[in-house]
Amino acid sequence: MTSDLDAGTTTITIFGASGDLTHRKLIPALFNQFMKDRLPDEFFVVGTSRTEYSHEEFRETLREGVLELAGMECPEEQWKEFSKRVFYLEGNAKELEDYGKIDAFLEDLESDPSNRLYYLATAPFLFPEIVRKLGEADMAEESTGWRRVVIEKPFGEDLESAHELNEVIHSVFNEDQVYRIDHYLGKETAQNILYFRFLNTIFEPIWNRNYISHVQITVSEDVDVGHRSAYYDDAGVVRDMFQNHLLQLLTLVAMEPPSAFNADAVRTEKVKVLRAIRELDAANSVRAQYEGYLEEEGVADDSRTATYAALKIYIDNWRWQGVPFYMRSGKALQEKASEIVIEFEPPPHVMFPLPRDYELTPNFISLCIQPDEGIHLRFETKVPDSQQATRSVDMDFHFRETFSQQPLPDAYERLLLDAIIGDPSLFTRSDEIEAAWAIVDPLLNAWDENPDQSPVYTYERGSWGPPEADDFIGEAGFIWRIGCEH
Ligand code: BG6
Repeated sequence: MTSDLDAGTTTITIFGASGDLTHRKLIPALFNQFMKDRLPDEFFVVGTSRTEYSHEEFRETLREGVLELAGMECPEEQWKEFSKRVFYLEGNAKELEDYGKIDAFLEDLESDPSNRLYYLATAPFLFPEIVRKLGEADMAEESTGWRRVVIEKPFGEDLESAHELNEVIHSVFNEDQVYRIDHYLGKETAQNILYFRFLNTIFEPIWNRNYISHVQITVSEDVDVGHRSAYYDDAGVVRDMFQNHLLQLLTLVAMEPPSAFNADAVRTEKVKVLRAIRELDAANSVRAQYEGYLEEEGVADDSRTATYAALKIYIDNWRWQGVPFYMRSGKALQEKASEIVIEFEPPPHVMFPLPRDYELTPNFISLCIQPDEGIHLRFETKVPDSQQATRSVDMDFHFRETFSQQPLPDAYERLLLDAIIGDPSLFTRSDEIEAAWAIVDPLLNAWDENPDQSPVYTYERGSWGPPEADDFIGEAGFIWRIGCEH
């Protein structure tokens, strides 16, 4: 490709390079972008971790990752071209001396300007250490080219630890050098929420408390905690999914239109939404574990960690006053589905002589994040050749049908490229991440401090969660909806 990106060299140093993320996501994403000719002409990838590999051995494990973990094709010629730019250095993230070695290795590859992206794909406890060492080794200063750091999740485990991590990062990097990952923001369909809302005239006028009865956000997974049980048992579903992915989706649905589509304007509007969220009340939550969770290896026998939660959230601002946002997420559920349902108020007056107990289905829009990405609109019609029978029907748009020539890229493709280009719009700003922790912390504390008020219910594997979650939303006369299944 030809652009400013092509001046000098761009190196991507991956810490934690022997891990699953590098093999499953990062390298496949970079390789895809390489095949689309979107990477700078002179780019290099340098992986580092404590595992011993030669450059060649490392390349081979990456190739297997591309084929087996990412399930991609790996055309031989292109892989050869790509992988000759990939190197490996054994190193201990805790040893300053090893940073000197990385720095020297990078310098050998570099020309002027020498731009560097450091990707922290390690265990999270190493994030502060690596950042500090990058500072001590003078690897963050920008006299010869830009320096950026990408931080994977989890970013802290509560507000305090997230704040401390931000402080460490800011002692070495300026905020505009920092890219905190929330891969949900890299999903095409999550990005499309803003296009749907703000590039069309017809939805925005009704996108408020006057017309919307409530909003549902579902992020369900059919997999259980698997080999991550030790991490998961500490984290639980609220830290693992709500603090980041679900709250991010909520901000995209609820934010005001920014005046311009740039990182600061967009992120400022998102922060405003987060700050307007009413303090979470344990009474507005349901938590549960799937059957058999306590028998998972690595899970404490008496663990109260939630693998499922449903929350009711209110946003105290002009647009959303009184509109509940129901959010649910869990493991070992019936299917993998991420979707947002915007449900509208019933018509103010029904002139048709419908039977007395007739239940009119409200209009709703489903924003389908995955797996069948698209948008559905549910509305009522008259059944043909009937006297007055009605039925709700679905008007649907599927990305895969309409854009069949353009397969949806993996979220990491976009995010890695944006970090290289220097566009942080789809990354979480420091105040944003702290605002999100400030929302979930009180709930987690309430759960810990008053366990009797928030029992940990059980749900069957392969179900849609505990029956109590149906009662929870049912109290308001609503039902959980999955509107993307057509
Ligand atoms: C991660 C969580 O952030 O997101 C995992 O740590 C979860 O527990 C994953 O499985 C879900 O991501 P996706 O893209 O598969 O919906």
